[in-house]
Amino acid sequence: LPSSTRKVWQWEDAKRAFPKRRANSHKGSHGKGLIVGGAANMPGSIAMSARATLRSGAGLLTVAAPGSAIQNVAPYVQEATFLPLQEDSGVVNGQIDTDVSNYDGVALGMGMGRRLKSHKLVEDLVCKVESPLLIDADGLYQLKDILHLVKERTNPTVLTPHPGEFAHLVDQSISTIVNAPFYYSRKFSETYGVYTVLKGPVTIITAPDGRQYVDLTGNAGLAKGGSGDVLSGILLAMMLQSNSIMDALNIGCMVHGLTAEMLTESEHSMVDLLATDLIEGLSQTFRTFS
Ligand code: APR
Ligand code: MG
Repeated sequence: LPSSTRKVWQWEDAKRAFPKRRANSHKGSHGKGLIVGGAANMPGSIAMSARATLRSGAGLLTVAAPGSAIQNVAPYVQEATFLPLQEDSGVVNGQIDTDVSNYDGVALGMGMGRRLKSHKLVEDLVCKVESPLLIDADGLYQLKDILHLVKERTNPTVLTPHPGEFAHLVDQSISTIVNAPFYYSRKFSETYGVYTVLKGPVTIITAPDGRQYVDLTGNAGLAKGGSGDVLSGILLAMMLQSNSIMDALNIGCMVHGLTAEMLTESEHSMVDLLATDLIEGLSQTFRTFS
């Protein structure tokens, strides 16, 4: 791969590209987002994503989840509105019956579970969402046999796998992916026309045209369940506020990693840092960007 197509994203790049908040802006200026996912036994994932989206500047947010999950998510995300999805014993079941064209960006999959009955919802959103669509976690798991539908999308699609999720999607072993992450993420992005955020200690962000950026921020304090959910929430917010998906992804990954670094240099350690601490730490990072 020629080095000219691969670049390490720097703080100065993020600062320059960071979406401005004008004095006369209103909530519509900062985007209306939709987060879809959740299950009765996993209310935390979608709650953390939603709260991270709100803490990252989104104007309006709706959370669509099984009603049995919403009752546990809602007290934690008071600024959002809620949309109960059809469910069967706490798990999403069937299509979404709302007009998804009302949203400027959608994030799908966090805490949704991997049950077969949730597949229809993922397929439905891949086909219907006309705004940028981010798919993470269990949403990625459901994507494997409908990648041809992803390829047909005319609006941006962002996939945010960790190496295990990516290995499943591309039918390779995890060690094969970890040994050649640039190669596989580029090949995948070009084949399916998607933005790929391959997460890990080093995160590789690849555009559909094969351009790649490397994010080196963050530390092992992030190696805990929940930090990925926070990342997808931050990324959705950045996608809502930026005209460039690539800028949004680069800024979002950097904000996530820098917040972990900042928190483990101040009130927390890599041992005790929790995903929820990251959300509350975002304010300190965002202050340095404005
Ligand atoms: N250094 C820097 N960043 C790290 C490190 C590290 N050592 N470890 C993890 N991270 C970052 C990643 O770059 C990513 O942004 O933390 C985030 C972890 O995201 P995920 O792997 O998606 O983790 P998460 O979803 O929170 O939890 C794992 O995924 O496979 C499922 O069921 C599994 O519940 C589990 C979940
Ligand atoms: Mg994850």
